[in-house]
Amino acid sequence: MKIGNDIYYVGVNDHQIDLFEGQYVVPNGMSYNSYVIMDEKIAVMDTVDANFKDEWLENVAKVLDGAKPDYLVVQHMEPDHAANIENFMKAYPDTTVVANTKTFTMMGNFFRNLNLDGKKLVVANGDSLTLGKHVLTFVFAPMVHWPEVMVTYDSTDKVLFSADGFGKFGALDVEEDWDCEARRYYIGIVGKYGAQVQKLLKAAATLDIQTICPLHGPILTENLGHYLEKYDIWSSYKVESEGVVIAYTSVYGNTKKAVELLAQKLEEKGCPKVTVFDLARDDMAKAVEDAFRYGKLVLATITYNGDIFPFMRTYIENLTERSYQNRTIGLIENGSWAPAAARIMQGMFEKSKNITWLENNVKITSSLSEANEAEIEAMAEELCK
Ligand code: FEO
Repeated sequence: MKIGNDIYYVGVNDHQIDLFEGQYVVPNGMSYNSYVIMDEKIAVMDTVDANFKDEWLENVAKVLDGAKPDYLVVQHMEPDHAANIENFMKAYPDTTVVANTKTFTMMGNFFRNLNLDGKKLVVANGDSLTLGKHVLTFVFAPMVHWPEVMVTYDSTDKVLFSADGFGKFGALDVEEDWDCEARRYYIGIVGKYGAQVQKLLKAAATLDIQTICPLHGPILTENLGHYLEKYDIWSSYKVESEGVVIAYTSVYGNTKKAVELLAQKLEEKGCPKVTVFDLARDDMAKAVEDAFRYGKLVLATITYNGDIFPFMRTYIENLTERSYQNRTIGLIENGSWAPAAARIMQGMFEKSKNITWLENNVKITSSLSEANEAEIEAMAEELCK
């Protein structure tokens, strides 16, 4: 695949993967993108996951068509992109590796036997590399998603090679909506680093960008304002859509009954969107994604071993470690004796910024009572205000 005049896609699709980064289900697989810029000097942009060494080297060789690459630009050292640096250097030993100081340190730690003496070009933030027609400028983007990350701007074709930024789950041979899987990817993987993404967006705003080439997901060529706007919303923790997320755990179905009644009442009252997650069974990453997408969240769980049910603890930790903020939260607790779940859940958000707590919460003692039904009605009313 050709992008612009001299840029070629040489990435791969992964349909074998069970869990991306060891935890995310990816029903439509994953792509690891890599690019070759054919100019007077030839640059290869990043490598791919270890399992795709042969396919990737073949893709690169086809584009090179007998030519020798001059540079391997390494924007990110995470092994989904960097695993084949040593294999590439074995195939093309005269290549110069272009990276920053942090990247070279990590490279030494990942590849203990790789000797790059005389084959390193260390770049600083803002440095440029001229390939001929193409001039590449390196912009450091620490913590988007690791500290060594840099993105690369090609001012000739106005292409931003954006590393993990603007990436998504899903292989490129599967058609699917960008927003949902890009949001689940962003919130899950980069969600904690909103401030750093904001910084990168500010730097990007000074550039004339016509194409975004990320390391995962499709190359973006049209309507770039849409993607930039989504990234701005996500990285500033703003509410993207009006709606209520109800996340629950239920052992014997009594807490679930409360959740179902609440969802029904919200729908009856015309709530724009209600999504319900059983945290023991549904995709945790999707439940986390939706909590960041919508403005209101109801958490329903039981008191368990003097704490809360483990899946709920994990869920709340997933939110707070990603800087969950600027949202409204309601609580449904169930306890057959000494209920403590509401207090514990609220306490877990102690350091979260700008949380509005509902006045109407629900306290169940074993099974739903008439009083609980009235509490749920009041909670629905308050959520719909
Ligand atoms: Fe796709 Fe942070 O690696």
